Amino acid sequence: MKQSKILLVVGSLRSASLNWKLANSLELIAPADFIMGQLDIGDLPLYNQDDDDEPDSEVVSMKAEIAQADGLIFITPEYNRSIPGVLKNAIDHGSRPYGKSVWANKPAGILGVSVGSTGTAMAQQHLRNILAYLDVPVMGQPEAFIQNKEGLFDDEGHLSEASLPFVQSWMDHYVRWIKIHKRPLD
Ligand code: FNR
Repeated sequence: MKQSKILLVVGSLRSASLNWKLANSLELIAPADFIMGQLDIGDLPLYNQDDDDEPDSEVVSMKAEIAQADGLIFITPEYNRSIPGVLKNAIDHGSRPYGKSVWANKPAGILGVSVGSTGTAMAQQHLRNILAYLDVPVMGQPEAFIQNKEGLFDDEGHLSEASLPFVQSWMDHYVRWIKIHKRPLD
């Protein structure tokens, strides 16, 4: 069975993060031919173009991980109607130096949980804009704008039985998205 390396990119560093709970649940429902990994973006320095010629080791290893991935799943909170700075910082690092972006052609999906009723919709739209520029094919449907309500997660922090079918359906679509877009890079 040909396996696909899928990287989870989570836009929160918070220990009790709802988005990390969602990411961990995604790992549990991923198909057997997906090798799931979690991209570490919390120890990256702030992006500074002066460092392009001599990037920090954290940047080098993050870019290597992305380069080896067959697909990406972004799971992000919404901060002030956009994506958190920590996620934008990681995206900027991965996109530079100019012409050496590691994001292009990695099929991606986006989900997010927030406490607000719009369920990260605006953050996700901003993220789509950024990823379009970076040549990342992002799955359009189903959208996953998830509001944290009582019962979304169970006591162990996993998706509850009630919330699982929607996220499982999202994953089924993403599996198809990967099959459509997975191809050797030129
Ligand atoms: C938020 N939160 C928030 N929620 C929302 O629905 N829309 C928003 O624009 C914002 N803005 C915002 C800014 C900042 C700086 C913080 C810290 C929080 C609330 C947010 O949804 C909530 O804190 C989530 O729990 C954050 O995600 P994690 O860390 O639980 O994954």
